[in-house]
Amino acid sequence: MARRPHLLLSLLTASALIAGACSRGDDASEGAQTPQEPTPTTVASDATTTSTTEATTTTLQRLAPGPGGDEVGDPLFAGLGNSGYDALSYDITLNLTGEELRATTVVVLEPTVPLNEFNLDLVGMEVDRVTVNSQAANFTRTGRELVITPAANIPLGTRATVTVEYRGTPTTIEDPSGPIDLGWHTESWGTFVASEPLGGATWFPSNDHPSDKATFRITVTVPAGQVAAGPGVLIDRQDTSEASTFVWQMSDPMATYLASVVTGDFAISTSSGPDAVTIRNVLPTDDAARLLPALSSTNEMLEEFSRIFGPYPFESYGVVAIPQPLTFALENQTLSLFDTQFLTLRRRTVENVLAHELAHQWFGNHVSPAEWDEIWLNEGFASWADHYWTELDGGTTFEERAERARPLNLRPPTEVTPATMFDATVYLRGALTLEALRRTIGDGNFFQLLQAWSDTYGGSSATTEDLLDLIREREGAEAAAVVRAWAFDDIMPELPPRLG
Ligand code: ARG
Ligand code: ZN
Repeated sequence: MARRPHLLLSLLTASALIAGACSRGDDASEGAQTPQEPTPTTVASDATTTSTTEATTTTLQRLAPGPGGDEVGDPLFAGLGNSGYDALSYDITLNLTGEELRATTVVVLEPTVPLNEFNLDLVGMEVDRVTVNSQAANFTRTGRELVITPAANIPLGTRATVTVEYRGTPTTIEDPSGPIDLGWHTESWGTFVASEPLGGATWFPSNDHPSDKATFRITVTVPAGQVAAGPGVLIDRQDTSEASTFVWQMSDPMATYLASVVTGDFAISTSSGPDAVTIRNVLPTDDAARLLPALSSTNEMLEEFSRIFGPYPFESYGVVAIPQPLTFALENQTLSLFDTQFLTLRRRTVENVLAHELAHQWFGNHVSPAEWDEIWLNEGFASWADHYWTELDGGTTFEERAERARPLNLRPPTEVTPATMFDATVYLRGALTLEALRRTIGDGNFFQLLQAWSDTYGGSSATTEDLLDLIREREGAEAAAVVRAWAFDDIMPELPPRLG
């Protein structure tokens, strides 16, 4: 199979930048989906039964429990996620020992309106049974929606435990922004997950949107001899002569698109990193010895990034490398996804992308985008971090990158469509936006600002306006204006000179 250029690497060369910026930019407006009005999810406290539509809706919600909506109202992706509740935890049990995947997902949720009906996102798979608080519930399927009607209403101020039993062979979803199949992949050598942005719903029912993060427990049973790795910490492993069961616990909030599992003939090598972070890398057993040295800079990167971004936000970190070419790498929470071939490229190239995915653990994973059109808060920040690492290492400088970007007429990084959300505008102009801020306020203030960003919005989701507010509060209106121009103006500003 021909190897396509690596997504992130192709963003590193000027020619690829031009190709990316032009060809993707051109069809972008047509590919855009119509923004949807968010479904109201809160009940106004002082509603009365009078004239306006809003008041009527509110009153109806009060008198008769209303249904949860079938989307959160994401500006890029209609139909994504659901309204009417907040998911608190997912307990996913997967059995991979048979012909097809047999699974149970238990979602604990808190209603934000009284619910007599609500949706989870699920694509494909056969649903056998749904219960809500242990009582059988009716359900129907339509598109990505699993519509559930519980036997009893779910009142405000309570929690509901929703159990979905399902099975089948997961199908992937086409990537609206490039040639990646999203979701759960079944391969000859095993399985892996690459979901960003839409693929989470291919393997577990959820509120599939980064504005609703939750904790996860993922239990996977595989045939004896195979290994299953997932996010967080391995809290249990049981082996019989036929099968092995692995239980992975992610105790910090995680967006559904960052949840992952990989299974196959892998070796998990565990070591201790700085600040008691557990490092576990998951490499094909027969290739582990050759590939492990490529990951030797992890501790050093963790130390440097913890110094400038604040403490690493999770209990563990590591990389999984799959024995199949990918055109990208992905920052799955605490277990970044790579392919084995990529790890054999020259050191600086590998380290650049390792730094990028590690930085996403703070930016994207700990602080997640409130909506998908805020994607530069992920990619601009992670790109700034990989540029910083490369510059420290004596490679390409920020000035050189700004020079290359100049003739490309990059759009503002806040202006994206499903087709352009991972292009050079978002990565490169996004990174230069932060570099411009760094040069305006100086390294010390800039690093403290990044730490404040991670502290304030960690565990949750944020917007560009949240970032601008934080900058204004800490550094004043002028610094915020610099970032606003980089983030929103049609013309890309000049990179200020380096301070000191
Ligand atoms: N977040 C990934 C990275 O920058 C890129 C994901 C690309 N996803 C896609 N659907 N095209 O490392
Ligand atoms: Zn990225």
